Amino acid sequence: MDMNSATSQFKNRFGYSPARIVRAPGRINLLGEHVDYNDGLVLPAAIDRATYIAFSPSVTDRSTIVAVDFDQPAVFSVEGLSAKSQTDGSPLPEWAHYPTGLMWALREAGLATPAMDAVFLSNVPRGSGLSSSASVEMAFALAWQTLGGWTRSPMERALLGQKAENQYVGVNCGIMDQFASACGEENKALLLDCRSLEYRSLPLPESVSLVVADTTVRRKLTSGEYNNRRNACEETVNLLKDDLRAMTSLSEVHLVDITILAKGLPPELARRSRHVVEEIGRVNQSQSLLEAGDVQQFGQLMNQCHVSLRDLYEVSIPELDAMVEIAQGLRGCYGARLTGAGFGGCTINLVEREHASEFVERLAKGYESNTGLHPEIYICRASDGARLL
Ligand code: GLA
Repeated sequence: MDMNSATSQFKNRFGYSPARIVRAPGRINLLGEHVDYNDGLVLPAAIDRATYIAFSPSVTDRSTIVAVDFDQPAVFSVEGLSAKSQTDGSPLPEWAHYPTGLMWALREAGLATPAMDAVFLSNVPRGSGLSSSASVEMAFALAWQTLGGWTRSPMERALLGQKAENQYVGVNCGIMDQFASACGEENKALLLDCRSLEYRSLPLPESVSLVVADTTVRRKLTSGEYNNRRNACEETVNLLKDDLRAMTSLSEVHLVDITILAKGLPPELARRSRHVVEEIGRVNQSQSLLEAGDVQQFGQLMNQCHVSLRDLYEVSIPELDAMVEIAQGLRGCYGARLTGAGFGGCTINLVEREHASEFVERLAKGYESNTGLHPEIYICRASDGARLL
């Protein structure tokens, strides 16, 4: 999977060579889960799994986009955007809502979106918590920027992708995934303050490997459960406003206050908000640990994060718990936890580099005998964000 296969797929489908190829990566998140939409701190990294688009301007006013993985084209123009329909009146396939959503968001911002011929393919597994949809959005943002002749910064493109997801696709996500896909840096994690949108990169210690372990259980009802979690946070802010009048998000609650404040909340909201406040505390703590190369302590924070996502935020599932528990018992594992929204998908593991291959093998065996499922486990590298190739 690379730019050569994107080029040859394009030639197969359209009979000529593409003008450009764009690559936009998926991401893992090391710490700071379910806090981006609470104005908290997150610590993701873009990874070496990505969506590739080969594209050219179309000679017609219709865009034809072929999803190689679905072996299916979608043909659309500006007229059918809001109704989510193709030029022949049939509904757009669901995968096409990401490019058309992005097109909608760009046009809302007054940016040109010339019609294109395009193929896209991806080796970011879908629904696995590695942000395959954000990688599709960020790839198309760059493709349209190239064809449209305008320039927006990676962060601005990320915000447009988030708008597409929130208002067109209907998932009320935060900014983390699009940000990581747009702004990723090789061998670095990115520390983002989701309130100010300021960020800096932190080098990942050379002695460790990032291991992604896919449970192969795909998320179900994700957008429903995800949006519920977000609503719970907003409801909590409204309740707490009686005590903390100027408050606008859970990120403003101090660690020392959460125990007292939680006592006045319904039990479910108390659990959710405790996770958010403590998780932001963990990311705060993690910066100096990562800078000092203290992977031991950093890994402990990852382990604590998993417990919190399992017991307080309640977004784990038994297969994710099994994958994490087995990993934590293996040689060389500093930390393991579910990554992304949860409800299925992948774990992220911080593993001593010299033990990484053995870790992958043992984790696969352990998970298989525990669950009867064949996991996909791979060592990944932190990579650059969306780029034209
Ligand atoms: C999904 C969302 C992100 C973030 C994570 C949980 O990946 O798209 O905005 O909320 O879940 O941390």
